[in-house]
Amino acid sequence: MLTPSFLLLSLFVAGGFGKLYEDVADLPGFNYDFVIVGGGTAGNVLANRLTENPKVSVLVLEAGVSNAGILPSEVPFRLGELFAPTVWNWNYTSTPGTGLLGRVLGVSRAHFLGGCSGHNGMVYTRGAAADFDRYAQITGDQGWSWNNIYPYFLKTEKWSSPADHHNTNGQYNPALHGTNGPVFTSLNGYPYAQFEQNVIATTKSLPQDWPFNLDMNSGKPLGVGYLQSTIGNGERSTSATGYLAPQYIQRSNLHVLLHSQVSKLVNSTKKNGNLSFGGIQFKYGNSLYTAKAGKEIILSAGVIGSVQILQNSGIGPQEVLSAQKVPTLLNLPSVGKNGTDHPFFSIIWTVNSTRTYEAVTRNTTAFNEAQAQWNQSKTGPFVTSPLGTHIGWKRLPTNSSAFSVHADPNPNPTAPHLEFVFIPGGQIAADGNSPSGPAGESNFMTIGVALISPVSRGSVNISSSDPFAPPLIDMGFLTNEFDVRAIADGIADAQKFVSQPAWKGYLGTLVTDLTPATLETTIRNTTAESYHYSGTNGMSAHGASYGVVNPDFLVKGVTGLSVIDGSTLPIIPAAHTQAVVYVFAERGADLVKKRWNL
Ligand SMILES: Cc1cc2nc3c(=O)[nH]c(=O)nc-3n(C[C@H](O)[C@H](O)[C@H](O)COP(=O)(O)OP(=O)(O)OC[C@H]3O[C@@H](n4cnc5c(N)ncnc54)[C@H](O)[C@@H]3O)c2cc1C
Ligand SMILES: *[C@@H]1O[C@H](CO)[C@@H](O)[C@H](O)[C@H]1NC(C)=O
Ligand SMILES: *[C@@H]1O[C@H](CO)[C@@H](O)[C@H](O)[C@H]1NC(C)=O
Ligand SMILES: *[C@@H]1O[C@H](CO)[C@@H](O)[C@H](O)[C@H]1NC(C)=O
Ligand SMILES: *[C@@H]1O[C@H](CO)[C@@H](O)[C@H](O)[C@H]1NC(C)=O
Ligand SMILES: *[C@@H]1O[C@H](CO)[C@@H](O)[C@H](O)[C@H]1NC(C)=O
Ligand SMILES: *[C@@H]1O[C@H](CO)[C@@H](O)[C@H](O)[C@H]1NC(C)=O
Ligand SMILES: *[C@@H]1O[C@H](CO)[C@@H](O)[C@H](O)[C@H]1NC(C)=O
Ligand SMILES: *[C@@H]1O[C@H](CO)[C@@H](O)[C@H](O)[C@H]1NC(C)=O
Ligand SMILES: *[C@@H]1O[C@H](CO)[C@@H](O)[C@H](O)[C@H]1NC(C)=O
Ligand SMILES: *[C@@H]1O[C@H](CO)[C@@H](O)[C@H](O)[C@H]1NC(C)=O
Repeated sequence: MLTPSFLLLSLFVAGGFGKLYEDVADLPGFNYDFVIVGGGTAGNVLANRLTENPKVSVLVLEAGVSNAGILPSEVPFRLGELFAPTVWNWNYTSTPGTGLLGRVLGVSRAHFLGGCSGHNGMVYTRGAAADFDRYAQITGDQGWSWNNIYPYFLKTEKWSSPADHHNTNGQYNPALHGTNGPVFTSLNGYPYAQFEQNVIATTKSLPQDWPFNLDMNSGKPLGVGYLQSTIGNGERSTSATGYLAPQYIQRSNLHVLLHSQVSKLVNSTKKNGNLSFGGIQFKYGNSLYTAKAGKEIILSAGVIGSVQILQNSGIGPQEVLSAQKVPTLLNLPSVGKNGTDHPFFSIIWTVNSTRTYEAVTRNTTAFNEAQAQWNQSKTGPFVTSPLGTHIGWKRLPTNSSAFSVHADPNPNPTAPHLEFVFIPGGQIAADGNSPSGPAGESNFMTIGVALISPVSRGSVNISSSDPFAPPLIDMGFLTNEFDVRAIADGIADAQKFVSQPAWKGYLGTLVTDLTPATLETTIRNTTAESYHYSGTNGMSAHGASYGVVNPDFLVKGVTGLSVIDGSTLPIIPAAHTQAVVYVFAERGADLVKKRWNL
């Protein structure tokens, strides 16, 4: 008997992968209603939602390769393998960090369909309600308030049972989750029982500092709760596996072309005082092509790519453009500015337990067994992200010395300043930026301390008039003293956390050097990324003196051009950013539909 899944499979084998084009020669044409640049986290949401209307034609131009068959992307635990320079990565590096003792960081960005949703840590966090209420205030658009955005979270999400189908009572609040959306979410499906018990016991012995929070995705994240991830049935779920699933990619009005890097927008004209563009230039192989959008060009190329395309096209800070001899069509000083990430400091201890990540990462036999188990049943140690079991969110103490160098960047008492990631292992993601436990026989645990409300800002600038040259990326980390002091407070919090009775007999020795006299240098020398870089094409109110896009995502001073991706976040949220990017794109799709009466 032919099962439906067999039929689906034979359809792929016979007809290729729906309307996913590997070769530009197969593309039926170059004129569409919408051209979306970047088939990443946001881009695929837009591609899906805009083509719900069969009369609307959409082309997605993606520079990278197909996501199909990328094993380290499919297997949650193996994401670290995507950080090295491979065909799946843009291989960017930062400029030497002036707050980081001149260190250069690898800036990993995914170069395949699904974008960073395909190689991120899969952590699913929505941020604080206060973040969105602040967006509403900054943009003058109540549509950005928590209450108005909340339904979009449910719309994106398909909550599912963890891979081990354990009893999840008391580990999350089902009322807060969607069950019909394209992207799977779940709790961890492989236990680290003793470690997890110790974390929970600490919430009981220090309830003032670390209250237990049943579900940090309620809009009130403060406290410690169970990690939720964009994982379903033991596999990573992405914007490509979800929003471009077979039933969507097969739509005849949706075309996705791979291996196509957009250089710039061309054929500019001035219409009623606004700039507009007649075409989108892209490179396939060694040739340049031009696509046209009858209605709107949507840049979803991410926090670096979308800046680069705007600047290549003559939209950006005049001094940056003229330094590269790119004629300025529109002097928009905020393009590439205000780039923000959460600086991440790892504290590592040895532990008296063999139930840690090292059990598989340092034992080839166990590693292969884990992979075989995953292949066979999608269970075992490879079904979870290597980013821990629990997360804590905390405010700085009101007497923090950080407040003596800068005003509180997030005064709302329900929003956190600091995040703590509790990890039963000493090697997080092998990204070459983050410290890891020393090699050897030991087992480790890590508390990652991330500053959620940094004051420091970075920037992205084109480096050349060659539109394909990699841009200059300044993470801006620790350029404001506030950030260093706040991280130091977080380190003290983490030490207090493990000083509790629950950790006695489990915790071994501190591996990270936290000597007070040299702590500032240690922070500057080892702080890494959270990979939440965002805000380089910030959204601001209509008529604001700064910003790149209006609250409806249209680029200020341009007709028929919008940017919809993580670059538009007005301020970095108290969250790992993917859930926020998903809802920005969902609302973005609704706003685009509305302005075109679709
Ligand atoms: C390593 C890493 C780990 C992370 N971990 C987490 C986590 O655990 N949880 C979480 O919530 N968030 C995490 N994030 C952040 C989150 O994944 C991103 O904020 C989000 O995915 C960004 O979405 P985006 O649509 O803005 O960009 P992207 O998803 O990067 O999409 C941009 C797309 O555009 C394409 N593109 C770029 N330039 C061009 C061009 N010129 N022409 C054509 N195509 C182009 C790219 O190839 C890519 O497919 C992580 C990010 C990274 C990088
Ligand atoms: C990144 O580096 C790898 C290895 O050198 C290379 O194969 C790949 O093409 C590079 N990625 C891009 C986008 O250039
Ligand atoms: C752009 O303009 C050039 C002439 O300047 C023209 O040859 C070309 O066809 C135009 N392209 C589009 C997409 O309109
Ligand atoms: C950066 O964002 C802040 C708001 O958070 C704004 O006041 C400032 O003008 C922005 N800077 C630039 C260069 O856009
Ligand atoms: C490595 O893993 C195998 C298989 O699980 C196990 O039998 C062996 O004892 C492990 N080796 C060490 C040194 O822990
Ligand atoms: C698991 O499956 C992948 C992809 O099918 C294959 O490449 C790999 O060899 C398998 N690994 C094991 C250990 O079975
Ligand atoms: C802040 O207050 C707490 C207790 O209220 C105290 O233990 C701590 O030392 C104070 N810190 C500073 C920097 O004054
Ligand atoms: C980009 O240019 C601006 C000047 O507009 C400068 O302040 C900033 O440091 C530059 N950033 C990078 C990464 O080169
Ligand atoms: C290690 O843990 C075991 C119990 O799991 C305990 O008996 C032993 O005392 C611990 N060792 C140390 C050094 O704390
Ligand atoms: C920074 O760390 C590197 C190794 O990671 C070390 O060699 C160097 O001495 C450190 N620098 C300072 C100033 O501590
Ligand atoms: C100019 O562009 C803005 C978006 O940036 C748009 O809101 C406005 O309607 C446009 N004006 C005209 C006359 O097209």
